[in-house]
Amino acid sequence: MKSTNATFGTVAKSLHWLSALFIIGLLVSGFRSGFSNDVAAKAAILQFHIPIAILVLLLTTVRIVWWIFFDKKPAPAGSSPAWQETASRWTHRTLYLLIILMLGSGITLSLISGAPDAVFGTAPLPEFQDYTPRIAHGILARVLVAIVLLHVGAALFHHFFQKDDTLRRMWFSKKTNT
Ligand code: HEM
Repeated sequence: MKSTNATFGTVAKSLHWLSALFIIGLLVSGFRSGFSNDVAAKAAILQFHIPIAILVLLLTTVRIVWWIFFDKKPAPAGSSPAWQETASRWTHRTLYLLIILMLGSGITLSLISGAPDAVFGTAPLPEFQDYTPRIAHGILARVLVAIVLLHVGAALFHHFFQKDDTLRRMWFSKKTNT
């Protein structure tokens, strides 16, 4: 269940991959809605977007509580230079911060625009662009895409070029190089 010095535990791995799947789903569905002019299509997409976002809120809360109170990160895999360790730490912190800000801006936007009444009821869909949190939600989403790409790129760099266990130890197989 818990992580060791060499690898992530089942709980950490499950939280990581479930969050990744749902956040990619939120980015794809969010941009599809954002770039659509069809009100019915927007409402249908948001019927998926909002519940998945609530799941991400729950998963992120569990994840933060898990890391603070119950588990400890493994030591870095391989021997990366100090600047890479620092960059990795800050990328992860920025990812958490962006996820929290996306959740905060999405919830605020929903509450002040009355989105749930339109998406799950019969009220007309609000003009989301008229609300300031919608602008923040859109800008933060683009920054999140950039940081996710950096995160994925770093994991692939470790796997294919540095040939260490950084990616492997976040996966469910037991096979590692160490
Ligand atoms: C990690 C969490 C989230 C991610 C990654 C995410 C992603 C996105 C993206 C990429 C967009 C489109 C931005 C654009 O086109 O400029 C968007 C729009 C939107 N999101 Fe989220 N979102 C998240 C959380 C939430 C939450 C918690 C809610 C509400 C409870 C929410 C409600 C909305 C709404 C109402 C829109 C506007 C759709 C439109 O303009 O057509 N989002 N989201």
